[in-house]
Amino acid sequence: MHIVITGANRGIGQALADRYRAQGHDVTGTARDSSAQLVLDVTDPKQQASMAEGLAGRPVDLLICNAGVYLDKGHGIDGYPADMWAQSFATNVTGVFLTVQALLPNLQAAKGRVAILSSQMASHTRAPGGSYIYRASKAAALNLGRNLAADLRADGVAVGIYHPGWVQTDMGGAQAEITVDQAAGGLLDRFGALSLATTGCFETWDGQPHAY
Ligand SMILES: NC(=O)c1ccc[n+]([C@@H]2O[C@H](COP(=O)([O-])OP(=O)(O)OC[C@H]3O[C@@H](n4cnc5c(N)ncnc54)[C@H](OP(=O)(O)O)[C@@H]3O)[C@@H](O)[C@H]2O)c1
Repeated sequence: MHIVITGANRGIGQALADRYRAQGHDVTGTARDSSAQLVLDVTDPKQQASMAEGLAGRPVDLLICNAGVYLDKGHGIDGYPADMWAQSFATNVTGVFLTVQALLPNLQAAKGRVAILSSQMASHTRAPGGSYIYRASKAAALNLGRNLAADLRADGVAVGIYHPGWVQTDMGGAQAEITVDQAAGGLLDRFGALSLATTGCFETWDGQPHAY
């Protein structure tokens, strides 16, 4: 398979890239700096266009929209500046859409799959307060994935949305519940099971359906 992973230079994205490479797949990892094969800031339409040009004619079997930010972690109610909303949505929502849009011909050619890394914090059924920006952006990413699933079905492209667990990465912190290897192993199974029969699913890393 040819697999494209955004934010493949650290955390969950890097672990997924390592696992797929170890299985012999052709992985195009992206990063904001030159540490991955392809330089891509997902918020930048010009860089998205360059990626599309660079990968033109190469079918993509699996696109993993992993790049994300959690800029308002630990903020109090007096926090949440407007530019933090803009930056977070640019990455966690617009960035996902621009990436899918840029690689749509490649996904259509492969009848490929799209995996969007959202979070359990996206769910309306889980609303303990706080982290307003992150929660809202991940809810929007979930909504985007659900609607892309409807539109891309006709192209044979399945779209899944996932909670990777609370993972020991820079974002999750050292006290998080699971290791990056556990998360990556579970997600690989989830992505492998994604099909047109399950398109639009919202699942946890260990295979539980999550409430929208
Ligand atoms: N860790 C958790 O507990 C947890 C829980 C639920 C959901 N998630 C989601 O899982 C995904 C991966 O999380 P993680 O824990 O691996 O996070 P991480 O360790 O903070 O890594 C985030 C990755 O996203 C990249 N990134 C951020 N903004 C970007 C942009 N504008 N363009 C391109 N790449 C960008 C980062 O690149 P740089 O190195 O350039 O910053 C980095 O590679 C995220 O979408 C996150 O929201 C994580």
